[in-house]
Amino acid sequence: MCGIVAYIGYRQAYPVIIKGLKRLEYRGYDSAGVALLNHGIKLYKKKGKVAALEEITIGKDLDGSIGIGHTRWATHGEPSDRNAHPHLSANGKLAMIHNGIIENYAALRHELIKKGYVFHSDTDTEVLLNFIEDIQKNNESTLEEALRIALKRIVGAYVIVLIDKDDPDTLIAARKGSPLVIGIGKGEHFLASDASPIIEYTKEVVYVNDYQIAIIKADELILKNLGNERQTPFIQKLDLELAAIEKGGYDHFMLKEIYEQPHTIYDCLRGRLDVSEGTITMSGIQNNIDLIKNANRILIIACGTSWHAGLIAEYVIEELCRIPVEVEYASEFRYRNPVVHKGDMIIAISQSGETADTLVAIERAKEQGAVILGIVNVVGSSIARISHAGAYTHAGPEIGVASTKAFTAQLTVLAMVALKIAKERETITNERYLHLINELNEVPEKVKQILDGADYIKDIAAKYKDVPNALYLGRGYNFPVALEGALKLKEISYIHAEGYPAAEMKHGPIALVDENLPVIFVATKDTYHEKIVSNIQEIKARKGKVIAVITEGDETIKGMADDIMPIPEADELIAPILSVIPLQLLSYYIGIAKEYDVDKPRNLAKSVTVE
Ligand code: F6R
Repeated sequence: MCGIVAYIGYRQAYPVIIKGLKRLEYRGYDSAGVALLNHGIKLYKKKGKVAALEEITIGKDLDGSIGIGHTRWATHGEPSDRNAHPHLSANGKLAMIHNGIIENYAALRHELIKKGYVFHSDTDTEVLLNFIEDIQKNNESTLEEALRIALKRIVGAYVIVLIDKDDPDTLIAARKGSPLVIGIGKGEHFLASDASPIIEYTKEVVYVNDYQIAIIKADELILKNLGNERQTPFIQKLDLELAAIEKGGYDHFMLKEIYEQPHTIYDCLRGRLDVSEGTITMSGIQNNIDLIKNANRILIIACGTSWHAGLIAEYVIEELCRIPVEVEYASEFRYRNPVVHKGDMIIAISQSGETADTLVAIERAKEQGAVILGIVNVVGSSIARISHAGAYTHAGPEIGVASTKAFTAQLTVLAMVALKIAKERETITNERYLHLINELNEVPEKVKQILDGADYIKDIAAKYKDVPNALYLGRGYNFPVALEGALKLKEISYIHAEGYPAAEMKHGPIALVDENLPVIFVATKDTYHEKIVSNIQEIKARKGKVIAVITEGDETIKGMADDIMPIPEADELIAPILSVIPLQLLSYYIGIAKEYDVDKPRNLAKSVTVE
């Protein structure tokens, strides 16, 4: 939520910031702005995407080698020019960008209004900025001291970066709860919400921790805690290539990421799954195996698509490991009073590793003695860092806002984790274990087959693109796939879609069925096949249109459905990694047919760092 970029060094700051903001646009894109420091503060901001900001800066004075930029996902105040960041403090000396939410902003605003402050936006950011200015004025302190005092009084999450007209050689930043990476160059520094704006300049980065303040000059980086004690920056090497964050010839990141799945799943298996030896090597799991295998209960905590991966993992882990599993929405878990015992294991699933609800939920569970296993895509992210153990999904940067390749990588890792635990607990026969290892090994090739022959999905998309509603149904392992298919359609095409367990249909949703309602069945050959065939018949009897994801060669459903999307045969535990692929493509092609911005669907943002 919200992307921030800042630069200090010998280059012109503006082009570095604009390029960086475009890379971070996935985090929010309802307005953008930049402030440059060069004999005073030059401020440009505009409602809309970064391209709109670029347009208004044509012919303007953009000179300056220190600057801050922001692309916004609105929380306080509608998307508009005046609510766009950066904001200026009342005396015009400070400019600030902010990612996060200041929860006690209303009380602070009230306090400041009583002191005569006038606000020019509806944002919590402007309140925090003037609060800092007010402390600086009253205490006659440095900006750094004022910031420290202010941060001790605010409640909420933030990454902020400030420039000060009176100190034109310094950037000041602070973090709590939202991500901040600092790239270390020779005589220059880059700040950003993730590493993508930084990689073409330097591979040396520092991930700023919660409650740290960074004082940054062109050739110096000082980190301090809120107690004003210096802390040694931990410099890490980025393992990321520029090509990974570019479209590489595809029209959209979403399509590129869908088509990358044979590789990303392979990368996820590589070095872990050894079919000839019949082994799975996952050091994060292995090092904590006693804790993990003896867990009394597993709680899976996640949001959105990652939550759907968790639901599939619940079925797989209970089946293979015989440990009870509960899957929780992080946002619910963090606010109720959940019972967590010492022997419980939490699996936190997150692509970004920064989702605020998931992060706080696992912090709560950790306080209560649970062991946290993080299944995360972004290396070095907050969830990865606070987990006791974990496994990265190695899907590479996912830039399309709708999650695709991260989901199939999560399913792949979770299947390996389940197999590993089952083997340790001896709740799986050797024959079944080896069979499933083989099945997993074949997934990249099967995904490739689906993608190579997927052009026909464009025709199905053209046929159904104008429907107002759609129902997605599945049973067993494919029920969460139905939920995920419905979520993808909603996000990308703005068509109302609901996912249900197919058997639940007759308890209500069947009332929706008529000749206009497309019902998308995820009906591959599994234990529930006969049952789902009956469900399809029930829909056909009511004249509903049936589109079915089926196993190749399934003549029964082929004969009943209006449209089919076949996938290669696979074990039912593994099939969701395949059955979701046609659903991703269906949503993509419907979104394209409707001429929507599939990479940046309205109202959404990639990394939900606010609750
Ligand atoms: C849907 C989607 C979201 C995310 C959710 C959790 O396409 O991308 O539902 O899955 O916001 O995000 P992470 O996995 O980053 O914690």
